[in-house]
Amino acid sequence: MKIFLDSSNIEEIRPINKTGLIDGITTNPSLLAKQKGNFKEILKSIASEVKGPISAEVTAVKAEKMITEAKILQKIAKNIVIKIPLTMEGLIACNYLSKNKFKVNVTLCFSTNQALLAAKAGATFISPFIGRLDDIGENGLQLIRDIKTVYNNYNYTTKILAASIRSAEHVMEVSKIGADVATIPPKIFHSLYKHELTDQGLESFLSDWKKSGKQIN
Ligand code: G3P
Repeated sequence: MKIFLDSSNIEEIRPINKTGLIDGITTNPSLLAKQKGNFKEILKSIASEVKGPISAEVTAVKAEKMITEAKILQKIAKNIVIKIPLTMEGLIACNYLSKNKFKVNVTLCFSTNQALLAAKAGATFISPFIGRLDDIGENGLQLIRDIKTVYNNYNYTTKILAASIRSAEHVMEVSKIGADVATIPPKIFHSLYKHELTDQGLESFLSDWKKSGKQIN
């Protein structure tokens, strides 16, 4: 499974990217709005730090304006992927952009039918928001399973990008289901490698080694 970071903060992204495990970045208007400075410069620095797809979202609501914004966003860097909301206008824009060689991440997906339409519109990625579905008492993980079934039925190549991930358990579950990508907030990335028994084990290995007086040299 590919791992993207769901962040617009270069200071958070840079140290995690040093692991070599980050395959891309997703941003959204709320995340970018929190950052100080020019949003184009922020996206440019993220796109030069991380070599994979960097999702940047349009803010227009009409297809024509979305396409205009997509062209502006695409000029920021080659690896920018245009994020488009799952509305009728968004599907029109996605269809146009996909046919004109843009990569599109269709976002704010909350149903299998929405995901079916995004695939038909040529989306490169579909972003089902699992945490927000859980928030309203629905089952976000079931949506990932259902989209996978539909995409497999018709061999759609649109990648399932599990978004609105709120816990390490979400990451584990979407990887078991077979999501193509999980976009993970930095805090949750850190919780993936941490384990109490790893820390305890390391502490005792190092203290035994120190007591022995031996050295690796
Ligand atoms: O980037 C979109 C998405 O991951 C948002 O997550 O936690 O605001 O629902 P959240």
